[in-house]
Amino acid sequence: MSKDTLILAIESSCDETSASVIKNGEEILSNTVLSQIESHKRFGGVVPEVASRHHVEGITTTIEEALNTADTSMEEIDAVAVTEGPGLIGALLIGINAAKALAFAYDKPLVPVHHIAGHIYANNLEEPFEFPLMALIVSGGHTELVYMKDHLSFEVIGETRDDAVGEAYDKVARTIGLSYPGGPQVDKLAAEGEDTYDFPRVWLEQDSFDFSFSGLKSAVINKLHNLKQKNEAIIPENVATSFQNSVVEVLVGKAIKACETYNVHQLIVAGGVASNKGLRQELKKACAEHDIKLSIPSPKLCTDNAAMIGAAGHYMYEAGMRSDMHLNGHSSLDIEDFSVEKE
Ligand code: KG4
Ligand code: ZN
Repeated sequence: MSKDTLILAIESSCDETSASVIKNGEEILSNTVLSQIESHKRFGGVVPEVASRHHVEGITTTIEEALNTADTSMEEIDAVAVTEGPGLIGALLIGINAAKALAFAYDKPLVPVHHIAGHIYANNLEEPFEFPLMALIVSGGHTELVYMKDHLSFEVIGETRDDAVGEAYDKVARTIGLSYPGGPQVDKLAAEGEDTYDFPRVWLEQDSFDFSFSGLKSAVINKLHNLKQKNEAIIPENVATSFQNSVVEVLVGKAIKACETYNVHQLIVAGGVASNKGLRQELKKACAEHDIKLSIPSPKLCTDNAAMIGAAGHYMYEAGMRSDMHLNGHSSLDIEDFSVEKE
């Protein structure tokens, strides 16, 4: 019997300090997540310097807890995987330095992981990939469509030209008086309202798989401004429903068209906004109509966590991807550079 492969994964790209142990790329032995959301709430968003400080405070105990929960130790670990980027540079560096220290001290390989590859691979922990597939990434920092013809083969076929969808959610939430992070609250409100404001659908050029959300965000802000000036009532739940309908229609429309164009039968949705109930519901309907298998991870694997980094890190480790002790964090990083060409 061959020995199990254990990856210790570390994620600290934004406001979650997380460590996880993943067995054979598919089993989560532990996934410790220390969220900073409560601390950032009072500022209305993530403050990079505050995030870095919390990562420093929490990283050691988070890693210890992940190893303990998995009932293992550094000696048993085969490799240390860590998020290289994209993300907040100061935050990334905390995880990277912890990973480097452990890899050096215990003489283990160090595997750099792209954060978005992690979000995509979260799916593989619950439902194995069926290639070729399309991944729709919807998070606070990213909105993109990635085509994968095989493991570790990433082709970005479309991305946002301005705001990420989660960012638009958070900004709209703020304009209707909701606290950070507003996305989940807008989602909740949207279920109670009606689409009365008729916001635009931004499709861009006919064959483009790119997205744009800044126009929609401005349309919402202008509309609210206008209503206020005319002393007319603003109905927050209707704003939420109207905004969410516009976002969901475009995301679903483009994702389905991408699946058809690239002839794929599995659509994976990843990132924090993948928890959105309206998006899940409409994707379910559209995928059933188009005979596409829809895979969305459970909410705890949709938001930032180290299990997803370990899931991707396992395949990267097996493919021989390594970094030396010069590994640095990168606030922007191209996922296509993490592709491994197969013969
Ligand atoms: O993937 P994630 O945890 O962090 C990034 O890598 O960005 O995504 C966080 C984003 C936030 O903008 C948050 O408001 C949004 O995901 N979000 C949601 C929902 N849950 C989280 N947006 C809309 N509906 C939700 N249910
Ligand atoms: Zn993320």
